[in-house]
Amino acid sequence: MTAAARARAPAKVNLRLRVLGRRPDGYHDLDTLFQAIDLADEVVVELRSEGIDLDVQGADLGPVADNLAYRAATRLAACSGYEGGIAVSLTKRIPAGAGLGGGSSDAAAVLRCLSWLLDIPEQDRRVRETAEQLGSDVPFFLSGSALARGRGRGEILEPMKPLPIADLVLISPPVHISTAEAYAALSDARHGRSAAPGRSAPSPCSWDDVAAQAVNDFQPIVSSAHREVGVALDALEARGARFALMSGSGSSVFGLFGSRAETERVAAELTARLTWPCRAVRTLTDMPAAEAR
Ligand code: C5P
Repeated sequence: MTAAARARAPAKVNLRLRVLGRRPDGYHDLDTLFQAIDLADEVVVELRSEGIDLDVQGADLGPVADNLAYRAATRLAACSGYEGGIAVSLTKRIPAGAGLGGGSSDAAAVLRCLSWLLDIPEQDRRVRETAEQLGSDVPFFLSGSALARGRGRGEILEPMKPLPIADLVLISPPVHISTAEAYAALSDARHGRSAAPGRSAPSPCSWDDVAAQAVNDFQPIVSSAHREVGVALDALEARGARFALMSGSGSSVFGLFGSRAETERVAAELTARLTWPCRAVRTLTDMPAAEAR
C-alpha cells in the first residue's frame, strides 16, 4: 500500500447564489452554481502507526481540533474502522472566511487522499456522508465536477458540462465573514420570511448566460455592513468587468474579463490601489485527483 498521497484543494466561486427558505433544521435551501478556480491549497496525507496530526503552513487557522481537514481525517478513520495514525499537512493559499470554500476544499482533499490510501471508493456512502456532515460546501469539492448546480443546503449536486476556461480577477478584502452570521443577518432582514420565489434559472451554456443570471442574495446585506465589499465590486466594474459578484457569504468578490493579459493588468493595478490581495485566476474544467506523493 502507498503510504502517502497528495491533492490540490481548489477554491470555488459562486456564479449565482439564491438563498431560499429557512428549513426546520435551521439550514437554508439554496439554488447555487459552484465553479472551481485555480487558486488552491495543497494537502498531503500520510499513513503512519499512530496518532492523528495536522500541520498547517501559510496561515494561522486556530485550534487544530476545529479544523475541517483534521475533522475529515478523524471522522473517516472512525467510520472506516482504520486504527492506524494519519499525518495531514496543509499549505494554505486560499484566504479563510472569504467565501471561497477553502476549509471545505481542504476537507474534501483529505477525504479524497485518505479514501485512496485506504482503498475506499470516493463514492462510498461513508465518504459521502462524512463530506455532508463536515459542511454544506464539502460535497461539491468531492463531486469531481468543476462546475455544478447545488440545491438543498448545497449538498444536492447536478454536475454540469464545464464552460470554456474564463479569466477572473479575485479580490479578497481584509474582512472575515462568519457564514452562520451572514445567514442569520439575511434571515433577520427578511423577517424570517422566505425569498420571493424567483424563476428557476436554466443551466448556463455560455459565459453570457452566467453574466445574465449573476446574483448573490448575500451581497446587498454584506456590502452594506462592510464598505470594502462595495469598493471592490465598484473597482472591478470601473475596469470593465463583464460582471462582478461577491462569492458565497463574502467577503471575496470576482469579476469576469476577456483575457489573461487583462486580468493580470487589472489585478496588479488594483493590488497597488486597494492594497488588498487581488489575483488573476482562471476557472477549472476538471477537479484535481489524489495522487501518490
Ligand atoms: O454547512 P456549514 O457548516 O458550512 O454551514 C455553516 C452555517 O451556515 C450553518 O450552521 C448554518 O447556520 C448556515 N447555513 C445555512 N444554510 C445553508 C448552509 C449554511 O443556514 N445552506
